[in-house]
Amino acid sequence: MSDLVALRAEATSALTGAADLRALDDVRVRFLGKKGAIKALLKKTGQLPPEDRKGWGMQVNALVKEVTSALEGRKAELERAAQEAALEAGWLDPTLPSPRLQGGLHPITKVLMEVVDHFHGLGYSVASGPEIEDAFHNFDALNIPANHPARDVWDTFYLTTGEIPRTHTSSVQIRTLESREPPLRIIAPGKCFRNETIDATHLAAFNQCEGLYIDRNVTVGHLKATLEGLVERLMGRKVPTRFRPAFYPFVEPGLDLDIECIFCIGEGCSICKDSGWIEVIPCGMVHPNVLRACGHDPEEWNGFAFGMGFDRMVMLRYGIDDLRRLYDGNLDLVRKL
Ligand code: DAH
Repeated sequence: MSDLVALRAEATSALTGAADLRALDDVRVRFLGKKGAIKALLKKTGQLPPEDRKGWGMQVNALVKEVTSALEGRKAELERAAQEAALEAGWLDPTLPSPRLQGGLHPITKVLMEVVDHFHGLGYSVASGPEIEDAFHNFDALNIPANHPARDVWDTFYLTTGEIPRTHTSSVQIRTLESREPPLRIIAPGKCFRNETIDATHLAAFNQCEGLYIDRNVTVGHLKATLEGLVERLMGRKVPTRFRPAFYPFVEPGLDLDIECIFCIGEGCSICKDSGWIEVIPCGMVHPNVLRACGHDPEEWNGFAFGMGFDRMVMLRYGIDDLRRLYDGNLDLVRKL
């Protein structure tokens, strides 16, 4: 009996002393294993007088049960402690932002956000129209009648339905003038499509940003100030600009805003076709016929419009010399800018 008592005490202290799960398993083997101390006690049964054997066996089995359940208890305790320690060591707050920024905004998106912000500051709102247009909104209402040679300027794709993937965002001028009363100020960024031969400065699908300002007594001065302000904002500094007369059926007078070529600083290079200037914003004073086509009285209202070649602006802003680089999926571009 004294063996039993001693073994119980020994097992209890070994269990509480086991500092981790591995030590605990050693304790299990030591006491409950096939060659363990308790098994050894059972082996003694045969040496006892027959009348004592049953009692002895029961006592030993009770001890087995007791040690087994103590062992389970200690095991649960140690497992909980191990889990807590692991949590403590690798503490993680899933609501924190990722330490490594995974994504990046495409340069076109960045410039777009800046343009929108700039014009918001001037009281403009963002308007939009469908990318698949009808001839009325893409041409007729813009003072470009059917069979007029001016139509050929836009290398137009036609769908089998007769509809037109819009060749410019100027169609949104019409959509806006149809649905709103002046005075109004909108910009309309969006995709346009033309049957272009693709090269460093031309794509068949590209972005423009249209602008339309209609009020009373609007002058070319307003137009110039607005566009020069935009260029300064986008280029981050004052760059030399010039306005040249140009023809667009939906404006009179029509103008082209050029900025000094940033690649050669006006010297003349292949990108500016040796002129030292790059055309960035065609514009002009809205033609009375456009206002009339949308039901507004050109005697009362007038204004200016512009249609910025958006991708080209992005190119100039970031010094990218080939438009195709913006669309070739090269992540270096996104990461570097
Ligand atoms: N829509 C013209 C184009 O894509 C560009 C343009 C010229 C837009 C003059 C305008 C403008 O709003 O006033 O070629």
